[in-house]
This record gives sequence, structure tokens and C-alpha cells, in this order.
Amino acid sequence: MRNLIDILDFSTEEIDGLISVANDIIENPDKYREVCRGKILGTLFFEPSTRTRLSFTSAMMSLGGAVLGFDNAASSSTAKGETVADTVRMVSAYSDIIAMRHPKEGAPIAASRVATVPIINAGDGGHFHPTQTLTDLLTIKRKCGKFDGLTVGVCGDLKYGRTVHSLISAMSRYTGVKFVLISPAELALPDYVKEDFLDGRCEYVENPDLEAAIPTLDILYMTRIQRERFSDPEEYERLKDSYILNAAKLKNAKPTLSILHPLPRVNEIDVDVDDDPRAHYFDQAAFGRYIRMALILFLLDTKGVDDRRISGSENPELECTNPHCLSRTERGIKKLFEGEKCIYCDQRAIRK
Ligand code: NCD
Repeated sequence: MRNLIDILDFSTEEIDGLISVANDIIENPDKYREVCRGKILGTLFFEPSTRTRLSFTSAMMSLGGAVLGFDNAASSSTAKGETVADTVRMVSAYSDIIAMRHPKEGAPIAASRVATVPIINAGDGGHFHPTQTLTDLLTIKRKCGKFDGLTVGVCGDLKYGRTVHSLISAMSRYTGVKFVLISPAELALPDYVKEDFLDGRCEYVENPDLEAAIPTLDILYMTRIQRERFSDPEEYERLKDSYILNAAKLKNAKPTLSILHPLPRVNEIDVDVDDDPRAHYFDQAAFGRYIRMALILFLLDTKGVDDRRISGSENPELECTNPHCLSRTERGIKKLFEGEKCIYCDQRAIRK
């Protein structure tokens, strides 16, 4: 049984395979209408979502399957104090595959250790969001025709933006990809993302000036400042409008530029960009349904393969100090480390 916790759980060949199936689904939807008849997708959304949850629901329904779940923690037994592990153990018994979103980093890893069905990470805190990345990769393939050699500007909240972390890790595996990291200093890419995916692997520059960067880009990936992850509301107010893309700022952009955004947008893309033929964010959201159909089909077919994460070991000398990591709050969780890193959130642990 395979899971999708981190985009690197899939090889580039497997991602190519999912993109081919998604393209075939777009061309021949009728072929797929009954293929999941009798199968159930559990959607456990402990945190708000529109596109991700509805596109998963639409994906399973378009395959002839059924969906059950909840769309906020308050309506689940979490409100009674149930652990993630116990909730997932139960929903494993009621469904054939689970997509989950949780505000704590590492929650899907904890889930995959107890689940008896494949677990899909639909976003864990400010950490990863691999199914958004599959959507992004399908969009890039359809709009740019390739991954190699692209210059990708990622702009906005690079600190808490989980879609950016997963996109960078996925794109850093292709040849000649360059990144331009566009953010205020306070919202720079976390060290673990730089160390794991960029340093020594990929060319990148940090440039807080969006307009100066635009002419060099093949892809401009805008993101929302992640209000819900700030501990200081004043800091959010100060940073929220750091970048606002509008038609005037695109004056010197390449004619072949692709403008992407995982959505929802707040202010960071003016509506005057929506009619620009280079604005692909609504197509991108639509593609999310097809790549998730391909993903569900792929994972349901991996029952025989054992992929349960057994990495990491307990180390009483280490402590994860990331306040957003599930390992700090979940009762009974095994605190596991690989070297000096917490396996749940990928952040460096400290010696006690
Ligand atoms: C993103 C997310 O949840 O991280 N949304 C999505 O899934 N399309 C981006 C965001 O919320 O800003």
C-alpha cells in the first residue's frame, strides 16, 4: 500500500504516469465513469478548504465512487479530544482511501503509521501540500510543455506557504530549473526547505523585488500571505499586501509566461490580470480534479505493496521544538528522529 505524504514519495516517472492518466481522463471522461464503483474515499478536513476537498469529492464521484467525511474538526470527535491516530484508525475501517488536511505538521505521517488504507496528505500546516503540486505540475506540463530549464518565480509567503515547499521539492528534481524566491525577509523560505531541496541541487536567487524579477521568469507562482499561521496579527497586517500583481507590472514579462496561484487569492493578484492569456490559475484549479482522479486510481491499485513509513528512531536526547508539529501535542505519539531531524515536520531537533 502506497501513500502520498510528501511529493518525493513519487518518482518523476510515476508523476509522468499520473499526468498521462489525467490527460487521458480530460480527453475520455466516459472511460473512467464507473472504475471506482463500490469504493469509498474518506475526506478528513480538520482545517478549511474549498478547492482541495471539493476537487477530491468531485474526483471520486467522477470515478463512480462515494465519499464520506467531515469538513471541520469541530464536527468530528477531535472536538471530544480524540487523537489523529484514533480518528484515522476508525475511518480506515469505513473507507478504501483517505485524503486528510490538518493544521499540525506531520499529521499525515502519524496517520499513515496506523491506517490500513492509503493516506493522501491534502495539506499539513505550513509544511507540505503534495496534491496541489500534482495539480501545479499538470498545469505546467500542459501550458509550458516541459519541466526542464524553466525559471520559476515563487512570490509571497514562502515561510508558511506549504504549496511552495512541495512545488520546490518537486521541481528541484528536473534539469536546469532555476528559482527566484520573492518574499519579504520575514517570510523567507525556511532553512529545511533550502537545505533539503535547493542547496547544492538547484540554482536559486532571493530577490524581494517582484517587478525586477518578472522579465526573467517562465512561471510566476503567486501565493497568499497565510494569515492563519501568524502568531502576531500586527505582523500579518504589516505584511499582507507585500505583493500585488497587476496588469501594469506584467508589461515586461515574457509572452510565454505562465501565471499560477494555488488559490484562494486575497489581494495578491488584481482582477485586471484575469483576462491576460498568461493567467492560468483558474485552469489550474480545474485540473485539480483530473490529477486527483489519476491519483486515487493509482493509490487504490497499490494495496499489495507495503510502504508504511518505518523511518526514524526514538532518541531521548532530542526534542522537536517546532510549535506546529503534531509530535508535540498528539497523545501517545512516538517521537521519531532521523539524524537530528524530526520525521514529522522535517525541522532540526535540539539537544535537551
Ligand atoms: C492552498 C493551501 O491550502 O495551502 N490552497 C489550496 O489547497 N488550493 C493555498 C492557500 O490556502 O493559500
